[in-house]
Amino acid sequence: MSLTFIAPPLQQINSEIARHAGVDLYVLRLDLMHPWVNGNKWFKLKYNLLEAKEKNFTTLLTFGGAYSNHIYATAAAGNLFGFRTIGVIRGEERLPLNPTLSFAVQQGMQLVYLSREMYRQRNTPKLEEYLQQRFGEVFIIPEGGSNLNGVRGCTEIIDRAIITFDRICVACGTATTLAGIALSLHEGQRAIAFPVLKNGAFLAQEIESLLTNYLASGLPAPYTSPASWELVCDYHFGGYAKMNNDLLFFSQQFTKEHGVPLDYVYTAKMFYGVMDLLKQGFFCKGDRLLLVHTGGLQGNVGMEERLQRFSKI
Ligand SMILES: Cc1ncc(COP(=O)(O)O)c(C=O)c1O
Repeated sequence: MSLTFIAPPLQQINSEIARHAGVDLYVLRLDLMHPWVNGNKWFKLKYNLLEAKEKNFTTLLTFGGAYSNHIYATAAAGNLFGFRTIGVIRGEERLPLNPTLSFAVQQGMQLVYLSREMYRQRNTPKLEEYLQQRFGEVFIIPEGGSNLNGVRGCTEIIDRAIITFDRICVACGTATTLAGIALSLHEGQRAIAFPVLKNGAFLAQEIESLLTNYLASGLPAPYTSPASWELVCDYHFGGYAKMNNDLLFFSQQFTKEHGVPLDYVYTAKMFYGVMDLLKQGFFCKGDRLLLVHTGGLQGNVGMEERLQRFSKI
């Protein structure tokens, strides 16, 4: 199973702030790998798709919100690899479909809507049974591709960088991506995750259990030394998909200065956090820092309406 990807470029960021902090700053541009299946999405999907193929499933079923990057990428990847896809969407149907869901439908995805209450049961055997009964034999991928197959794919992200880095920074939702990266670090390297949700400290426990379950599963981990990671919880901007003028301005300026587009839900918050921490002397002089661009740019289209509101302020 293969897809024509471009090798994600490693882009050096020439920033006065980084120079002043004595730090070398690079971005791993996973957003450029493929027009539709890019960022951390491909890494989370890869082994799920392989398992589905090996087990002769013809249909993938997964979950997401109406603007989900995961729904978008699963619809496209399913189409490219010859799977039928079903997207279980949180909440009621809203017409006309937003750009994320229109794209998913164009890729052949069948959309099914679940009330928020029912959607909350998405990881329970009861709902799974209901979905299997309704749709027949389907290969279920959890929301966001967040399972051990997802972690496994993310252990391959850092392979893509040709230089060795001291600190690897990544935006964090479920922490699947962070777990995969942490499992692939050499001694002396450390992964730093920036939760985009409010009160993200709870993720520490999730990360520990993801790492423990992964190592217990026998799936391959490039390095088995204790994974080195930390959470920086101060850059959520009010919570998931929340933003303010400060974040908007930062993101637009960063794109203008360095030619790196950012999405407002994930990468803008992490990049903002890193630049702010550089000013505070959080990193050591001589550190080589890698910022993983996890994609998600399709989501900016859906944010347009909100952005227009901000620009009027
Ligand atoms: C663009 C983008 N960046 C980062 C993340 C966070 O990934 P994770 O849920 O693995 O922490 C997501 C969610 O999958 C995402 O869509």
